[in-house]
Amino acid sequence: MTAVVRTREELARARAAAPGSVAVVMTMGALHEGHATLLREARKHADFVLATIFVNPLQFGPNEDLARYPRTFDADLAMCEAEDVDLIFAPTPEVMYPHGQPQVTVHPGPLGEVLEGAVRPGHFAGVLTVVGKLLLLTRPDLAFFGEKDYQQLTLIKAMVHDLELGVEIVGVPTVREPDGLALSSRNRYLSEAERATALALSRALRAGAARREPAAVLAAARAELAGVDVDYLALRGADLSADPGPGEARLLVAARVGTTRLIDNLPVHLDEAATTEGESA
Ligand code: PAF
Repeated sequence: MTAVVRTREELARARAAAPGSVAVVMTMGALHEGHATLLREARKHADFVLATIFVNPLQFGPNEDLARYPRTFDADLAMCEAEDVDLIFAPTPEVMYPHGQPQVTVHPGPLGEVLEGAVRPGHFAGVLTVVGKLLLLTRPDLAFFGEKDYQQLTLIKAMVHDLELGVEIVGVPTVREPDGLALSSRNRYLSEAERATALALSRALRAGAARREPAAVLAAARAELAGVDVDYLALRGADLSADPGPGEARLLVAARVGTTRLIDNLPVHLDEAATTEGESA
């Protein structure tokens, strides 16, 4: 039975009564199989699983439609029940930001300005601020985040390390449709034709990941993206450093398909070091 709490007081009471280790999975709702996988991982590693559902206004830009973001609480609750979640914290914006727009936020540093941060100014300050607050409110031992939002995951790890927040951040590999499309709450906006176009992203990443030399990785990926409205295609270190050395690196892509913006990434194994400025098509 999944309990639902909406205020800080209710959360504090439920958290104090939680037995053993606690894992949190933070979401903005509109849960899909990718979230179910995070919840299942959390269930494997902790005695008490807490999910948060909060559409965080702070991480939406002025031109991004916060009102249009899907809100599907009843279905989300049913998924949490099915995944044996102990507690859902689903606050309103007034509960999370009782004094309105916070004056002090978490600055993501230089990594917050590139890739997604270059296209969505202020986005990662909004993400890190709410994740920091939710970590302090829920006090978990472990927190699970999807690799689909790889830059977000990397920045959350950096925040927890740099601010000594004392929680283990666990990254979980992206869940994909059988044809390769990464699961995303935004896929519901794609028409059938757009969905077919969107497959180019995962195809490009797979083509790139099959190569071992940076220029070849980028060329193979770029070839699959012909005709797609690409925001960026970038090869970076596994920690998103600008110059991946030999070993594990990350290939990332963002593109617009119709009015929907999609992101995806895959690990790549490089044989040689080389410079790799992000490329755009
Ligand atoms: O990945 C998301 O759904 C959100 O960015 C998060 C981590 C729940 C913060 O609002």
